[in-house]
Amino acid sequence: MDGSVLQRRLAALVGDWYAEHARELPWRAPDVSAWAVLVSEIMLQQTPVHRVLPVWREWLARWPTPQDLAVEPAAEVIRAWGRLGYPRRALRLHECAKALVERHGGEVPREVEALLALPGIGSYTARAVAVFAYGDRHPVVDTNVRRFVARAVTALADAGPPRTVADLAAVEELLPADPADAARASIAFMELGALICTARAPRCADCPVYAECGWQRAGRPAATGPARKVQKFAGTDRQVRGLLMAVLREATAPVPRAALDAVWQDGTQRERALAGLLDDGLVHRLPGDRYALPS
Ligand code: ADE
Repeated sequence: MDGSVLQRRLAALVGDWYAEHARELPWRAPDVSAWAVLVSEIMLQQTPVHRVLPVWREWLARWPTPQDLAVEPAAEVIRAWGRLGYPRRALRLHECAKALVERHGGEVPREVEALLALPGIGSYTARAVAVFAYGDRHPVVDTNVRRFVARAVTALADAGPPRTVADLAAVEELLPADPADAARASIAFMELGALICTARAPRCADCPVYAECGWQRAGRPAATGPARKVQKFAGTDRQVRGLLMAVLREATAPVPRAALDAVWQDGTQRERALAGLLDDGLVHRLPGDRYALPS
């Protein structure tokens, strides 16, 4: 099959598969606000869907618009982030809500440039919001999409390191001309990458692209680059940061140093984790060597 014919066919094949097999997720409902989509995309970036679902529901019920979030103290926002992990995202989302109020009258803008200028919004999130909330035509490129394109189009096992401009161009080539069709293709590619064309154990037998996939046709050659690092959690500074944050989230008053010292034995690692949290503005040091979430 001619390369460009294949590329156009992928959107149709994966789109039909999506219509039948996609997960019903609340941020994909047709009446969901652009703000709700934005919040979901920030939460989903580093956290699995099942953990995001309850927190996303709680956030949108409590802060249905950017204004509602913008007027909260940072401590409340960090508390409501709970155990989603990477809590800097909560602070950035708070800053983003304030910027939406100041720059855009409390609305989420539609243009990618305006979205990119907001705190915490990068190339992926800006395009995801423009496409999933507003139905505009842009390539949306996350890890799952990059892997799917690497396999189906380039016949490689892995996508290799991200190359933003080239990655956007490669996905752009797969999008149908009509914006609504392109948006459906984008979410379908993401879903296929998340459910079928997975990193470690792809379910090729269930894949709608099986017969056309370049990687499959080449005999599924192994990855050639360095092995992907599996992110471990136990024993890392990230785990210690999580333990310190849990103490501070649950406290109703500033906590003494001893309460933080109790969460982890290794003093060097504990100090490093605490210094990081102070540096990130997630924790404030108060007089008397006491600690609290930022007010
Ligand atoms: N739907 C829209 N964006 C998503 C994402 N980042 N993860 C899972 N489902 C999504």
